[in-house]
Amino acid sequence: MKVCVVGTGYVGLTTGVSLAFLGHEVTCVDLDQQKIDMLTGGSCPIYEPGMEDLLAEATANLTFTTSYAEAVPGADVVFVAVQTPSADDGSPDLRYLRSAAESVAQNLDHDFTVVVNKSTVPIGSGNWVDAILRESFAQRADRPAGCEFSVASNPEFLREGNAIHDTLFPDRIVIGSDNPRSLEVLNQLYRPIINQTFTAPSFSPRPDDIGAVPLVSTDLASAELIKYAANAFLALKISYANEIGQLAAKVGADISEVTRGMGLDQRIGSRFLQAGVGWGGSCFGKDTKALIATAAEYNYSMPIVQAAREVNERQRLIAVERLQDELRILKGRKIGLLGIAFKPNTDDLRDSPALDIANLLLARGARVRLHDPIAGERFRREQPSLAPYLSDSLDALFDDCDAVVLVTEWAQYLELDWGKFVGLMRTPILLDGRHVLDAERMARLGYKYLAIAG
Ligand code: UDX
Ligand code: UDX
Repeated sequence: MKVCVVGTGYVGLTTGVSLAFLGHEVTCVDLDQQKIDMLTGGSCPIYEPGMEDLLAEATANLTFTTSYAEAVPGADVVFVAVQTPSADDGSPDLRYLRSAAESVAQNLDHDFTVVVNKSTVPIGSGNWVDAILRESFAQRADRPAGCEFSVASNPEFLREGNAIHDTLFPDRIVIGSDNPRSLEVLNQLYRPIINQTFTAPSFSPRPDDIGAVPLVSTDLASAELIKYAANAFLALKISYANEIGQLAAKVGADISEVTRGMGLDQRIGSRFLQAGVGWGGSCFGKDTKALIATAAEYNYSMPIVQAAREVNERQRLIAVERLQDELRILKGRKIGLLGIAFKPNTDDLRDSPALDIANLLLARGARVRLHDPIAGERFRREQPSLAPYLSDSLDALFDDCDAVVLVTEWAQYLELDWGKFVGLMRTPILLDGRHVLDAERMARLGYKYLAIAG
């Protein structure tokens, strides 16, 4: 099928490259000329494991352009995957979505095009995009006769850092539309994934236990709500583990044992129970906020989701308080933060706990140093106020440090020669912000090992 993808961010790029890999003819459009140039040259503007390899494999079916006029005409499906950042009141800022929808409408010419909202959008946005498309299309002097279109929702569940695996081997595919023809087109588009008929790429092998992928084919509003409900649930699962973690510290229990014991109950499941400094990234914070904002429009409150957010915010403060309890005085202390990205295997810094922790420490007079194996350059560009505190080397970070915090559990840090660095520190305090290091081993190496929770 002929596919257009608007927006080559984490979601759009993964969607476009994966569909091209599956044999569809894909054109990706983005307004950022620099990104398009990089992609045309075969390199990837974001750090996502396997993406450049997949790009290379799919290149015959892929075109990158800044021109909607090149990308939209003839497309059976147009995915809109532009950013929807939070506005000040917590509601998503939809101006990028509006302008993308208008540009799509200016260029529709096919007998039937499904326009898919791939961005996470508030419930009801499908109807809103539909209205914008119809309005913009009606204003066109050159609008072709016999050109039909319809809006669908196809939420994305990919995790950054695992984007290709999650796209090719998903737990489920959700498509929502009030038009049966749209559902049929999307069903056809995703056949290779649903039936798992494609040859898996060598760098992302097919899991042994995957069967046919369940397809949830539903109405527009339900599909939109599924995305929010799933993300908010994962966010609150983590916050729950963190809330129990603080209690565990007080009663002398070991949170890792507690969550292991909980997670083996199949009704609970072990994933997303990892306690630590809490969640960040582009989705959980934004989506929980948007869900609460949508509910408020209906004069409805969501105290569980709200509590998950508050617990998450508190975790970042707890990290700082743990250090303060230990060092007594933070003023003038040198604190090293290991990891700036919001989680390993991505260079995404959006809502990263490290940024908040750094700012809280600076506000209390500490001297902060940050390090990340991949996200350093992006950090320098996107966080000018914190950029001067970036350490290029681990030696520089550990040197004369009063405490080090593991904020992001990059494999490089887990495999670090910790024994080599302890001697550089002024006081060898190590706060494990993710509960991933072996406490006994660290103590043997000479660290004073602290965890966020019990
Ligand atoms: C519960 C726990 O499930 C079990 O793990 C623990 O050991 C003891 O307490 P039980 O009392 O048998 O077990 O209740 P269960 O049937 O599991 O569910 C508890 C309540 O939750 C019921 O009233 C049930 O109707 C309700 N429930 C359960 C829901 O409202 N929604 C659900 O999805 C599941
Ligand atoms: C998330 C959803 O998982 C995905 O389905 C959705 O489409 C987009 O949002 P992503 O934000 O890429 O994906 O990252 P995810 O792997 O979900 O992690 C989110 C945050 O939770 C990270 O900061 C991570 O460190 C944290 N986390 C995750 C925990 O603190 N504990 C856990 O047990 C798991």
